[in-house]
Amino acid sequence: MRTTTAETYSRTAIVLHWLIALLVLGQLALGWWMIDIPKQPVGLRAWWFNIHKSIGMTIGVLVVARVAWRLAHPAPPLPETLPLWQRTGARVSHFGLYACLLIMPVTGYLGSNFTKYPIKYFGYAVPHWGWDAPVLKELMSQIHFATVIVFMLLIALHLSAAFKHLLISRDRVFQRMWCWPGKTTRELPSDAAHAPGV
Ligand code: HEM
Ligand code: HEM
Repeated sequence: MRTTTAETYSRTAIVLHWLIALLVLGQLALGWWMIDIPKQPVGLRAWWFNIHKSIGMTIGVLVVARVAWRLAHPAPPLPETLPLWQRTGARVSHFGLYACLLIMPVTGYLGSNFTKYPIKYFGYAVPHWGWDAPVLKELMSQIHFATVIVFMLLIALHLSAAFKHLLISRDRVFQRMWCWPGKTTRELPSDAAHAPGV
């Protein structure tokens, strides 16, 4: 008899989590750095803005895939020993992270769409259906900026929680997003899965 005691996230969820996390951390650093590039001589600033837009659109596509996967594959249940406030905190902050992950690419894309400049995806033109609308562009930029601040606060909280579980509580919550789901959790006969040392 086979059992699926899902103690960790699925392989797809883990790969998407870490790929998106790396891209987002790089994208945040790039975003803050590129806005200080001087406008003269022309070219350098535009080049880095295009890289930022291209990476941002890549993140957007990956996030849509991740959300779709997540809707079809619920998270493994948290350990029952975890206090209610921590479970609620995890649910609320994860929801907030997903919201930021969606709002950032959407506002970036829409803001860029309401300028006269073309949007390029690593050199290839992307449909540009907007028009030159400074008010809309400014609105999107404000939301992009405000979301960056919320996003960074949530990431700081998320990292603190992750390291607290890894180094202080040592309750294997961190490993849910780290360990490859292997035979120990997925494919053992049900009694063996609960035997000591398995
Ligand atoms: C997860 C995805 C993204 C993250 C984390 C991110 C992060 C940032 C950060 C930290 C800044 C500097 C602070 C600011 O001025 O707002 C910034 C600015 C900017 N981002 Fe993004 N960004 C993302 C996606 C995108 C996308 C997809 C586009 C366009 C297609 C884009 C276009 C811009 C532009 C044009 C600016 C310059 C300021 C402005 O005009 O709003 N971003 N971004
Ligand atoms: C910086 C970008 C990051 C973002 C946007 C992000 C986002 C998320 C989200 C949305 C979840 C919830 C997964 C779900 O239930 O569907 C999650 C879970 C998790 N993340 Fe991150 N994460 C980031 C970075 C990190 C880093 C750097 C670490 C480790 C140091 C980490 C450790 C974890 C762990 C351990 C979980 C599983 C928590 C649980 O079991 O409930 N994350 N992350």
